[in-house]
Amino acid sequence: MSIKAIIEKFQAELDATQKVADVLNLKAHILGKQGSLSEILKGLKDATPEERKTLGAEANQAKIQIEDLVTAKISAFEAQEINASLLKTKIDFSLRDSIMDKGLRAGGLHPVHIIQREIEDIFVSMGFEVLDGPHIEDEWHNFEALNIPDTHPARDMQDTFWFADKKHLLRTHTSTIQVRGMKERKPPFRFVGPGKVFRCERTDASHEMCFHQLEGMMVGEDVSIGHLIYFMKTLLSEIFKREVEVRLRPGFFPFVEPGFELDIKCLICGGKGCSVCKHVGWVELLPCGMVHPNVLKAGGIDPEKNNGFAFGLGLDRLVMMRYGIDDIRHLHSGDLRFNQQFKTF
Ligand code: DAH
Repeated sequence: MSIKAIIEKFQAELDATQKVADVLNLKAHILGKQGSLSEILKGLKDATPEERKTLGAEANQAKIQIEDLVTAKISAFEAQEINASLLKTKIDFSLRDSIMDKGLRAGGLHPVHIIQREIEDIFVSMGFEVLDGPHIEDEWHNFEALNIPDTHPARDMQDTFWFADKKHLLRTHTSTIQVRGMKERKPPFRFVGPGKVFRCERTDASHEMCFHQLEGMMVGEDVSIGHLIYFMKTLLSEIFKREVEVRLRPGFFPFVEPGFELDIKCLICGGKGCSVCKHVGWVELLPCGMVHPNVLKAGGIDPEKNNGFAFGLGLDRLVMMRYGIDDIRHLHSGDLRFNQQFKTF
């Protein structure tokens, strides 16, 4: 039998196989000692040197071809098996519906977490890590390391919930995550840190004792205000899925120099004035700035070699603007009529 005929016969037999074991048998048969290909190779010893050369090359080629056909066939069987098992484990959504029919309700994400996750995704896509930090902090992480010494008037800006030991407190901002993040890494790095923060404040439509921030920080040898503006603009256009009007004002925060306030035109009233924007048409959204050298030092980073930007995004107001919520107190009301208006699983 010629090599061509051997391969054709093999192909036909391969097509007829039903399972991986059949393919392996077939392979063993054709390539094995008594196999038709081996017969040809054995016959080579009686051939002329010329014939031996061409026939030998052809036989080797055929062997490779057969091995490739076998591998492809086995992969096809394996894919079939996987598909079949996936079909068997199909999720039965009608079960969920029947549970719902019995009056049970599916859970969902709180609107603050919906936005938090979206923003984390945006930053992760820009190469940022997502860090966590403790709610209970010490003075050093919440104030000192952030260039807010004992006597500094900025401590009055934040009415703090202190523990009885007068040393520990509920963090008043997520800037504490900056300090922890810096200590654990070497520049260059960039990360965000979302979470709850606590202040002893009188509550009204736009103030709560517990609210949510997302801190951000980027440190490296040549980080500039240009980087800060680029990342903030990208973030806001991704969040609002449209161009939003922004304005930058100088702002004072002990941990940045220079510091800025980035405001956006109120999306609830379009700038006419409402309770969310305190009737000024603009909402303070994003305080930010270039990291103060003292803060870099506290984080174990050499301010001669590195600089960075930082920002602290308030999440609650974003949620309110996205969903048209006019009172921050709804967010912690625990009222199911409120919660169930958002994405469920
Ligand atoms: N920690 C500030 C606050 O809670 C917000 C803030 C301002 C964070 C400026 C920053 C920043 O990182 O650069 O009010």
